Amino acid sequence: MNEKTRKVYIDYNATTPLRSEVKAVMTDGMEIFGNASSMHGTGRAARAGVEQARTAVASLIGAGDGTVVFTSGGSESNNTVFQTMRLLAKDNTRNEFIISAIEHPCVLNSALSLKNEGFKVTVLPVDEYGKLKIDELKKALNDKTLFVSVMAANNEIGTVQDIKEITAIVKKAGAFMHIDAVQAVGKIPLNAKETGADYLTVSAHKIYGPKGVGALYIKKDAPLFPLIHGGHQENGLRAGTYNSPAIMGFGKAAEIAAGEVEKYGRDISFLRDRLRGGLLEKVPNIKINGHPTDILPNTLNVSFPGAEGESILLSMDMQSIEASTGSACASGSLEPSHVLMATGIEPELAHGSIRFSLGWGITREDIDYIIETVPPIIARLRAMSTLNV
Ligand SMILES: Cc1ncc(COP(=O)(O)O)c(C=O)c1O
Repeated sequence: MNEKTRKVYIDYNATTPLRSEVKAVMTDGMEIFGNASSMHGTGRAARAGVEQARTAVASLIGAGDGTVVFTSGGSESNNTVFQTMRLLAKDNTRNEFIISAIEHPCVLNSALSLKNEGFKVTVLPVDEYGKLKIDELKKALNDKTLFVSVMAANNEIGTVQDIKEITAIVKKAGAFMHIDAVQAVGKIPLNAKETGADYLTVSAHKIYGPKGVGALYIKKDAPLFPLIHGGHQENGLRAGTYNSPAIMGFGKAAEIAAGEVEKYGRDISFLRDRLRGGLLEKVPNIKINGHPTDILPNTLNVSFPGAEGESILLSMDMQSIEASTGSACASGSLEPSHVLMATGIEPELAHGSIRFSLGWGITREDIDYIIETVPPIIARLRAMSTLNV
């Protein structure tokens, strides 16, 4: 392929393309127009698709005898759990909350809203690789702790937590445990029931399913209050007419992902390691972020000192390489990534960091194109930044 026409989307932690099999199921699903709560045949046909999807999602995450509730995505699943805990915390001697410093904004901001209401929220530190400091968790837990939320794998640096060990510690202390597994599901083996957690969040659009649909796993007998009130859908746990085509697509994506986790780990990490090796060889003075071994197979977060993240992104985009930066551009001021800052790196390094997140569709040629294209971009930006000093 002419390099000018090559386009490399390498931002799969942000979202994934729909798989063709998923699209086909959704297209058929749109013809099955019935309301999945209707009693007649047209409704029952839609309901059958929804229940088939539930079985597939339950199987992918190892739900066992737990419940899988469909939601509008990871953000809603996480918010539902926090809202449940908020209600439980009222007039309860257990009313304190614990999260990690590197959670997704939908967890961080849910916790912040509790703090603003007057609840005690402890934010646990992580080490230089993004691993939760277990000793700090043990210190923070007490007989007032109601709830702990820790992600299975981080979206920016890919670090995978020892989630079973963390859950065991939390459960021993008598608190509820929630795992945001949005980035882990489909990428690494994970079994919700085996973790022992009370709640686990998953999202379809990270596993080649549609956007705007996700699920919440609830351990048998764990409490849940609806965030969205209305009809009796999902046994009263989540009201609203079923988005049945999207749910059916989610089911198909889950079914495929369940059969591919091992292959994903092998094939995608091979390409990721090739990218890491190539960049380390061709770009002097770079830093790889995240844990060296306990890391998602698809994630590579690199700091390029002397170059600024947004400039790197724009330059890469001009060469049709689509990645992302941990930095968020908020109201005109560039905030360094809270995840990278929590690992203790310098703000300048955090500003010059790029997340490459791979997925099905990335080829060896794509990786080689990045390895060829990025070094001159960094050299040029570094030269400019030296001129500007
Ligand atoms: C770790 C994590 N949690 C939650 C979410 C939110 O999921 P959704 O986009 O389905 O709302 C994301 C999405 O980026 C994520 O990476």
